[in-house]
Amino acid sequence: MGQPTDSFGEDAVTSWDVAGFEELYASVGEDLDQVPWARMGPNPTLVEWLDTRPAPPGRALVIACGLGDDAEELARRGHRVTAFDLSETAIGWCRKRFPQSDVDYQVADLLDPPAQWAGAFDLVVELYTIQSLPLGTRPQAVAAVAAPVAAGGALFVRCFARPDDAPVDVRPWPVSRAELGWFTGEGLTEVSLAEDVTESGTRFFVGVYRR
Ligand SMILES: C[S@@+](CC[C@H](N)C(=O)[O-])C[C@H]1O[C@@H](n2cnc3c(N)ncnc32)[C@H](O)[C@@H]1O
Repeated sequence: MGQPTDSFGEDAVTSWDVAGFEELYASVGEDLDQVPWARMGPNPTLVEWLDTRPAPPGRALVIACGLGDDAEELARRGHRVTAFDLSETAIGWCRKRFPQSDVDYQVADLLDPPAQWAGAFDLVVELYTIQSLPLGTRPQAVAAVAAPVAAGGALFVRCFARPDDAPVDVRPWPVSRAELGWFTGEGLTEVSLAEDVTESGTRFFVGVYRR
């Protein structure tokens, strides 16, 4: 993995103080640039990985897809994409921004997903959701991210990183290597786990797993 190329959250992510994600999406109105993680384009680290990935397109699931750019990138590459978010406003924006899209956008809860998604996807993409959920739900969140990966399928994860022994006191609650290790307890094998550090010192993990 190359140098970090996206800088989500370095300052803006800790500056919002509304109650939840739906409230945040609703509060910005038409001004989507005010959504702290919105880049109005696909995640560069995901794109870099997809560019080097030999696997053919298949069924893909984008977890907590936000405004839809990563889902659209996968669809552009030929994947049959389902993408979901808990926020109705976010999913509304996906449909509005990409009216011709082949992506199946759905409002759904990662922690209570449709049963038919279990083991149904050749590629699952998770960007910045585990870190966004309350710490008490982290084991459940890791299990829920792993569950849709089909036999032989892959999981791509990017998240804020923290050392195993570091306290998690500031939202968005960075993820530790030990917590990412829980994916192996969910039947996945770690293919790679890299750490990026931006110039300002923000640390990210990029993990690839396979079932
Ligand atoms: C930090 S944002 C990242 C969005 C997107 N993955 C990206 O990289 O631009 C976290 C997203 O998780 C969504 N979210 C939070 N809790 C969720 C849940 N339980 N199920 C599904 N989505 C959830 C939020 O609405 C928000 O869109």
